[in-house]
Amino acid sequence: MIHTSHLVKQFGSFKAVDEINLEIGRGEIFGFLGANGAGKTTTIRMLCGLLKPSSGEIRIDNLDIIKHSEQIKHKLGYMSQKFSLYPDLKAIENLQFYAGIYRVSFEPALKRLEPILEQFGLSSILKTLTQDLPMGYKQRLSLVAALMHDPPLVFLDEPTSGVDPQARREFWQVINDLAQSGKTIIVSTHFMDEAEYCHRVIIMQDGREVALGNPAELKQEYGSANMQELFLKVLGVSDAKL
Ligand SMILES: Nc1ncnc2c1ncn2[C@@H]1O[C@H](COP(=O)(O)OP(=O)(O)OP(=O)(O)O)[C@@H](O)[C@H]1O
Ligand SMILES: [Mg+2]
Repeated sequence: MIHTSHLVKQFGSFKAVDEINLEIGRGEIFGFLGANGAGKTTTIRMLCGLLKPSSGEIRIDNLDIIKHSEQIKHKLGYMSQKFSLYPDLKAIENLQFYAGIYRVSFEPALKRLEPILEQFGLSSILKTLTQDLPMGYKQRLSLVAALMHDPPLVFLDEPTSGVDPQARREFWQVINDLAQSGKTIIVSTHFMDEAEYCHRVIIMQDGREVALGNPAELKQEYGSANMQELFLKVLGVSDAKL
């Protein structure tokens, strides 16, 4: 579903993403881990076609991201790290707006998303102003907005930051269901319990890959009891620095 080779993003002389090579398959939940500034968002934005790589190649579903940008746009949904829904619109109006952007009919899209809206407890708050929703609900609404056009590939950049543990679990239940239905999920997180839910993760440091693989296999390889320990070991940092 995603192929990158020698992906690089340079801001002036600073390399934010440095030679990242990825092969991500359909239905996979793939996690981006790394400290602040490691290059997760920059990589994700390039994979979404929002940021032009300085060099290297990206193919989405076997299509070159530059040559086939229009076609690819309809294949992916993106939930940005920064909350990007309109606060002064009702929840349902934000969904309508997204349906408009992706040029899909709103009513059938809403009908299709009904099970997720129910699962998320959003059905009853659709007429609430977005700014009045608690953080957890805003994040859920952002995810639903990214699904309006039923994309096979979904990017979630720190979707659970600022969300309580119970709501995070519910969020991950939905992520799992989406992957089981065949969608490919790319997710970044600072929560190491969430890293355990990913099929594979990449750990980035200073724009580079420092580890990549299945959480269980990585833990075994590094002799770590859990992802938190693995993460610290791989990055060679102390707890205090995180
Ligand atoms: N437009 C830009 N111009 C210059 N530098 C940038 C730009 N965007 C990002 N950077 C820098 O690139 C590096 C990687 O940033 P990025 O946002 O990708 O990190 P991240 O891993 O997503 O971090 P976080 O966990 O804080 O979200 C940082 O040092 C950041 O300051
Ligand atoms: Mg980021």
